[in-house]
Amino acid sequence: MSGEKLAILGGPKAKKTPYRKGMRFGREELKELKEALAQNTLFCVKGKKVKQLCRELADKYGKRHAVATTSCTAAIHVALGAVGVTVGDEVITSVMTDAGSFMPILWQNAVPVFADIDPRTYNMTADTIAAKITPQTKAVLVVHLAGNPADMGPILKLARRHKLQVIEDCAQSWNARYKGRWVGTMGHMGVYSLNDYKHISVGDGGIVVTDDEHLAGRAALLADKCYPRDATGMRAGRMCQFLANNYRMSELCGAVGLAQLRKLDWICDRRRRHGEALTRLIEPIPGILPPVVTPGGEWTNWYYLLRIDEGALGVSRDEFMKALAAEGLPAGFYLRRVDQYEMFQNRSIYPPRKDGFACPYDCPAYKGHVRYEKSDCPNVDLVVQTGIILQMSEFYTDRDIRETAVAIAKVAAWYAAARRGN
Ligand SMILES: Cc1ncc(COP(=O)(O)O)c(C=O)c1O
Repeated sequence: MSGEKLAILGGPKAKKTPYRKGMRFGREELKELKEALAQNTLFCVKGKKVKQLCRELADKYGKRHAVATTSCTAAIHVALGAVGVTVGDEVITSVMTDAGSFMPILWQNAVPVFADIDPRTYNMTADTIAAKITPQTKAVLVVHLAGNPADMGPILKLARRHKLQVIEDCAQSWNARYKGRWVGTMGHMGVYSLNDYKHISVGDGGIVVTDDEHLAGRAALLADKCYPRDATGMRAGRMCQFLANNYRMSELCGAVGLAQLRKLDWICDRRRRHGEALTRLIEPIPGILPPVVTPGGEWTNWYYLLRIDEGALGVSRDEFMKALAAEGLPAGFYLRRVDQYEMFQNRSIYPPRKDGFACPYDCPAYKGHVRYEKSDCPNVDLVVQTGIILQMSEFYTDRDIRETAVAIAKVAAWYAAARRGN
């Protein structure tokens, strides 16, 4: 057998030094938090921090309005309500995403419909969306996966043609750009996550942005129990005109968010550089399929998702991943196609009723016939079956990236040689 012996077989590890770690939170967050506490209120309507976070984020992305929420799931719910998604509607989103993308569709008593992804960019495309449009389709929730912008040009054109509302789910793609434009700024509304896994964190939080004053006004009501408030926070206008939740962000989260926002560019630039460097290093390795950044896109590499050609390497993804882990790489996968979840296969969205009536599918207002067939989305299976997620961090060093590439090359070369029989 040629090449250095794999660590999983007792050879030396390719990753010689531990990945560099760093502190995400520090003096900047503490300063903001102290100021928040000194306000003697943690209520966003009375305090200044959440308002300032919204202002700074809106300014950064060149949008007129931002509304803060308790999570991105909440932000998506608010955005869906704002654009008018309601009972009987279908909303198209990605077949590979977090539950936070589709749960809010169901909370609107609408029906999620899942579009396939491109097997190299991992994003839904105009073609995969077009295949799912029906007379019931009201909106598209475009997921920009793993820091890679979706190909928005054709998607926006398609949406315009079919008069669809477009919400961009940027939970995993802070600061990614498409043809010079920030993700989240191209559709009717954009949403971002501040949960603890994301580029920046307040523990849990979300934000909706839009240029549209009417949508912003509705979003504010939908996030605040439909309490209309004027600039001073006092009641103004009619109370509780429609169903809405309490998704208000606290001043503590707003304070941390402000400090985090000021680190965002550095974090995203580092991650992008690391991703680009890793791709350059592993691209030439036979049997390794690095992610492809959408043409015209700038990605921010939330996690690094590569695929392997199991046939060329003569090894299964699971075995390859175990070998990488033994070399010292934080490799894993939680890749799932969401349409196969129990709740969709069994239509068990709500607790069962004695008469078997299953909302929203059996709702008289719903005239569609969505089916969650495995054969509907063939590309996603390629990613689910052969994808490997490498964790990414802005704190990694250039050496971390080089050693990651060396480990991948070593494991690939070992199995390829074994396949050839040398
Ligand atoms: C693509 C996507 N959308 C939505 C969400 C939901 O975000 P949150 O956890 O802030 O509710 C996530 C979270 O992982 C996500 O990755």
